[in-house]
Amino acid sequence: AITRIKARQILDSRGIPTVEVDLYTNKGMYRASVPSGASTGMYEAVEMRDGEKGKFLGKGVSKAVNIINAKISEALIGMDPALQSQIDQAMMGLDKTENKAELGANAMLAVSIAACKAGAAEKEVPLYKHIADLSGTSNPILPVPAITVISGGKHAGNNLAVQEIMILPIGASNFGEAMQMGCETYQHLKVIILERNGSSGCNVGVDGGFAPNISSIAEGLDLVKVAIDRAGYNGRIKLAIDVAATDFCIGKKYDLDFKAPNKSGQNFKTGEDMIEMYTQLCTEYPIVSIEQPFDKDDWERTKLFTSLGKCQVVGDDLLMSNPKCIERAIHESTCNALLLKVNQVGTVTEAIEVVKKAKDAHWGVIISHRSGETEDSFIADLAVGLATGQIKAGAPCRGERLAKYNQLLRIEEELGAEATYSGENWRQA
Ligand code: PGA
Ligand code: ZN
Repeated sequence: AITRIKARQILDSRGIPTVEVDLYTNKGMYRASVPSGASTGMYEAVEMRDGEKGKFLGKGVSKAVNIINAKISEALIGMDPALQSQIDQAMMGLDKTENKAELGANAMLAVSIAACKAGAAEKEVPLYKHIADLSGTSNPILPVPAITVISGGKHAGNNLAVQEIMILPIGASNFGEAMQMGCETYQHLKVIILERNGSSGCNVGVDGGFAPNISSIAEGLDLVKVAIDRAGYNGRIKLAIDVAATDFCIGKKYDLDFKAPNKSGQNFKTGEDMIEMYTQLCTEYPIVSIEQPFDKDDWERTKLFTSLGKCQVVGDDLLMSNPKCIERAIHESTCNALLLKVNQVGTVTEAIEVVKKAKDAHWGVIISHRSGETEDSFIADLAVGLATGQIKAGAPCRGERLAKYNQLLRIEEELGAEATYSGENWRQA
């Protein structure tokens, strides 16, 4: 049974406060912390911040911490941590709002994840196994990592509008090999950027991708292509981009120069231009997935692009991990993959439900980190337990990103001969 819950304010990878929880049972202490991101939407669960200007620019989380230490702790002490849905229901019962505004999704998620870890220990099974049981998943699967290699958009200080270029080692035979292929390509890319853009080009963005001062997505893809070639993985590594187009949609147009100091005005694209650009890129490069290709409100254009069948089309801000938005997008065939950010949902139980909804519709599912991360590796176990087939956790650079990839290496070792890597089945694991 849960005997004690103690929350505190810690710091995420950007130096911004976040919530950490130590949850105690008769078996031991289980710790969890929550991430936070740059893109936030109307329909996602509410992140509770103090708003006290003189402290951390208003971003403190002491209110959320106090809610855990008083209200939540009072309600959960004595409960069996293995009963995840009862714990999450108890918190939702206390909160009573639709968007977790009363307790804060950051407070609830930290407790929910800590309870999930304690539940696994209670049952004496690994965390991914407990998550598989909770969700009715028969076979845990190691996901294909979408490894960020070039950063742009709001995640880096270069002129590149697009937020991320990722590599997917789909042709690896196991997760360990996938990481080896990804890391080698990343190291080759560093040298290539050094040669072409100088050492400052090797500075990294918030999620560890290199941020050379390139101005077009094609220029970035070319650099990555050369790196894959030099590493010797031609054909075995595919490409993905997260456009995060909401961040540079102005009116109905897309400003591909939104960060450039001297804008020519040449790079203002219409939705049609963008479709044309993506179609061209998918023909010239081995791109298999494009995330948030249009503004979050441009459902029609997203649907049109999805219907062309060029690649997996991933909804990030479009969906905000919100069950109602996902249902609508499934119904209207707006996109065909979900980017799941657990902190937009707020509890483990609801995250499992949302993933099931997407899988039932034969969508791809990517379990995702946030730009503001902690050393908590929960999403690694979540991706394996739910057998999503895909995970996105940044570059092989910066500890909070490696925390997830390294946990996946441990899980693969533990599963031994039983380990399955999604590989070529990355979309329908
Ligand atoms: P965020 O970025 O955590 O800054 O929102 C992640 C993503 O866009 O995929
Ligand atoms: Zn995104």
